[in-house]
Amino acid sequence: MLLKDKQIVVTGAASGIGAASARFLKARGATVIGVDRDKPAEAVDKYIKADLSDPSSISAAVEEMPDGIEALCNIAGLPPTRDRVLVLKVNFMGLRLFTELMIDKLSENASIVNMASLAGMGWPDSAPRIRNLIALKDFDGVEAFCERNNITHNGGRSYFFSKEALIVWTMMNRWTWRDRGIRMNCISPGPVETPILPDFLETLGERAEEDMRVMDRPGRPEDIAPVVAFLCSDWSRWIRGANIPCDGGMYQHLLSNMNGFES
Ligand code: NAI
Repeated sequence: MLLKDKQIVVTGAASGIGAASARFLKARGATVIGVDRDKPAEAVDKYIKADLSDPSSISAAVEEMPDGIEALCNIAGLPPTRDRVLVLKVNFMGLRLFTELMIDKLSENASIVNMASLAGMGWPDSAPRIRNLIALKDFDGVEAFCERNNITHNGGRSYFFSKEALIVWTMMNRWTWRDRGIRMNCISPGPVETPILPDFLETLGERAEEDMRVMDRPGRPEDIAPVVAFLCSDWSRWIRGANIPCDGGMYQHLLSNMNGFES
């Protein structure tokens, strides 16, 4: 799939969807550089330790990167049960800073792939607050941002909001680096069987059980990895700023229900 010998960075490579994506890409001939706070148990070609909630750790990780990276997969993330400030830092602020610092390390026509979520589908209702978060550059300002913008601890709101912001930021930057042919897209999985699935079930309660019944089963990391690989490959070169659902049809189900098309 046009991946052979590509140098690809995968964040979150130590677990779940990131680990499955790293494995899938490596099996197709890519050279994978894994970035995570934990060392991946499976062999990546190079491991760079980083805490994506910490700007100095992010800068240090980028310094260690070789040039000529052909794809960057931003997969690391925290679940809705974690502290709201940490969730926004890792899932949005850190991802964005890492990406912006990585731009100089990317080759012409590189692809950036962000792991969003079905949880982000409500982004049109959060537009003013997303604008405020995108304007915020200072990691130390996240706590005050949550207070001002009513991002509560309850119901995993910070997680939903982090993914809403990621979908919008991806869309907004569809052409930012097009002079170098660099494009960015995101993928929105529904519930996936990884170590953080219980966190989602705890946050969403009966709704999550109902969602999984509607979908037949939860997703598996191996369902998501080929979509990551496709977006890394040149076959997806005309896709820019898109949010691709990978959720067994759940997004379309919710959308058609919301608009009165479901029987
Ligand atoms: P996971 O917990 O299995 O993997 C997450 C990885 O991110 C771990 O290796 C962890 O060490 C790393 N990570 C977390 N905080 C970090 C930090 N501060 N610095 C560096 N690395 C850090 O979770 P999973 O399920 O594989 O999630 C991957 C992505 O997919 C996340 O962005 C998540 O929001 C998203 N997602 C997951 C879904 C699910 O149901 N599992 C559904 C939709 C989206």
